[in-house]
Amino acid sequence: KTYTVAVVGATGAVGETMLKVLAERQFPIGKLHVLASERSAGSKVDFGARQLVVEDLATFDPTGVDIALFSAGGSVSKEYAPKFAAAGAVVIDNSSTFRGDADVPLVVSEVNPEAAKNRPRGIIANPNCSTMQLMVALAPIHRAVGIERINIATYQSVSGTGAKAMAELGKQTADLLNFREIEPKVYPVQIAFNVIPHGGDFLDNGYTTEEWKLLTETRKILGDDNIQVNATVVRVPVFYGHSEAVHIETREKISVEKARELLAAQPGLVLVDERKAGGYPTPVTHASGNDPVFVGRLREDVSHPRGLDLWVVSDNIRKGAATNAVQLAELVIAEG
Ligand code: A2P
Repeated sequence: KTYTVAVVGATGAVGETMLKVLAERQFPIGKLHVLASERSAGSKVDFGARQLVVEDLATFDPTGVDIALFSAGGSVSKEYAPKFAAAGAVVIDNSSTFRGDADVPLVVSEVNPEAAKNRPRGIIANPNCSTMQLMVALAPIHRAVGIERINIATYQSVSGTGAKAMAELGKQTADLLNFREIEPKVYPVQIAFNVIPHGGDFLDNGYTTEEWKLLTETRKILGDDNIQVNATVVRVPVFYGHSEAVHIETREKISVEKARELLAAQPGLVLVDERKAGGYPTPVTHASGNDPVFVGRLREDVSHPRGLDLWVVSDNIRKGAATNAVQLAELVIAEG
């Protein structure tokens, strides 16, 4: 059996990778529609060895689409995802629009796959990239001993902001090395050779929206509203791959040995945890271009009797967005 698939936002950083992952995993596609705005309609995108012509989302008729993968921003999802669902498609949406909706499951394929089956609106939400990798690492520990509190600082790459942000980092780096003036556009301050403690918009309580997503999405995915999450989101001059310094406090004490055992058995996770130079994952050496969530620097927290520290790295465009979306599509077709 094959399926009619639509990728909405096919010319974007995530959309392009969705096409790549669909081809790599040999998703059973009968017909594939690649959609974007009027601006890029008529241009071509790669799908495996083939090239496909981009169609204009605004004039596209979704009748007959079985599965639609959306990554064209929140306003596009808000308007078009319900239309595709009404036409009979299962929509897998990468925006934050529906993540908080009680009638929309929020699913990490290796963590809560069963939740994808219950989708009254015909929409499944793909979590935020930072939450995604955190859940793959923490779900096995939460199931075993319960997590009371998560304290996390992220080191997020610029690809999460989009193609323009990647261009800005490249250009600023080249300009500064050549003693030229720079003018920040995408980010409020210089990103090259700098770090910026700001992701999304500021909330009244002082947190940013990207920090708040780590709280609300973690609770929904793990199905536990008692988990406390304190996040600081930081943008760093890295192209692909988010890193996270994670400190957890568990209900029951867990040893490093036990945590290692649990993490080694977790699908989608690779432990890189040797206590020596280079014996840990980084975006460049491990994550970039790959699917797994990499975990290292495991240690018992000397400052807390039930504390554990981990370092979690993954490619935000692959597992953090495109790969998980395709895995959710695989779950849907496995239902038969
Ligand atoms: P387009 O290339 O036509 O602008 P990124 O996050 O990397 O900037 O990518 C955003 C994606 O969402 C692109 O594929 C972009 O298409 C698409 N997109 C943005 N706005 C719209 C819209 N109004 N209708 C359809 N697609 C859109």
